[in-house]
Amino acid sequence: MAERETVFRECLCVITGASRGLGKELALQLAPSLTGASSLVLVARSGERLEEVRRAVLASQPSLRVLLVPADLSTGQGVGAALAALPQHRPRRLLLLNNAGSLGDVSKFVVDFTSPAEITDYFSLNVTSFMCLSAGVLRAFPQKAGLTRTVVNISSLCAIKPFKSWSLYCMGKAAREMMCHVLAAEQPDLRVLSYAPGNSPHITIGRGVRVSTELQWGSEHQHKHDWERAGNGIRGKSSSGGVNFPIVWCVVP
Ligand SMILES: NC(=O)c1ccc[n+]([C@@H]2O[C@H](COP(=O)([O-])OP(=O)(O)OC[C@H]3O[C@@H](n4cnc5c(N)ncnc54)[C@H](OP(=O)(O)O)[C@@H]3O)[C@@H](O)[C@H]2O)c1
Repeated sequence: MAERETVFRECLCVITGASRGLGKELALQLAPSLTGASSLVLVARSGERLEEVRRAVLASQPSLRVLLVPADLSTGQGVGAALAALPQHRPRRLLLLNNAGSLGDVSKFVVDFTSPAEITDYFSLNVTSFMCLSAGVLRAFPQKAGLTRTVVNISSLCAIKPFKSWSLYCMGKAAREMMCHVLAAEQPDLRVLSYAPGNSPHITIGRGVRVSTELQWGSEHQHKHDWERAGNGIRGKSSSGGVNFPIVWCVVP
């Protein structure tokens, strides 16, 4: 297993869906590792909650530049606002964590989805914004010597396994997963990771995995952690609101 990297200098880290849940936790857990002129861009609809996350982040890493983007990523304007907020300075590391997502209506079976608008709305956030934001960020920071670029897709077991009445969610996650495969094939320099924080975590990576950072889920509450080694990553179990989230986390340096 590769040596773990614990500090990212001059890093630009973008986290979507950072106002609560896993996205908030990622922000809190990553912040201490972001040093030396690093920036953290947090995107979600609720500006109030983002402000709370910023305060918590700065408490642990006061020198970090934290930019908030209260925006609805299901709209073109929202994606545009996130891209417009990207700092102009050139980072040495780019880390995009595509975490924002929604479940969709899980009371319906496939035969119940007769409204094109409902399906389109779901895909706007869960697929379209994922693709457009990834594309926009990668275009803003094209490949160059000395720059390490990583795109993370927060995925799910549903990307690879069908669950009755979860068709929208399964379809969205499957589409994101495939986009990651294509992206990795297209951009040889890029590190692409799909990470599933579900009950049966799986990891798909565009190219060779090296564990560099481990994150623990649930630091905002007093959770019990049960860490164990798992494959290429570190797996931990914690309970959040009564739900168990085994964790596998890898950032490919
Ligand atoms: N929870 C699980 O058991 C589980 C399991 C496997 C995978 N995942 C995946 O992990 C990711 C996070 O899940 P979670 O449980 O932490 O979700 P969550 O608690 O519902 O949080 C979702 C985040 O996305 C943001 N968001 C939702 N709609 C948005 C929109 N239209 N525009 C911008 N931001 C939006 C929310 O903030 P605002 O409401 O402020 O916009 C929030 O910060 C998702 O991709 C999910 O599919 C979760």
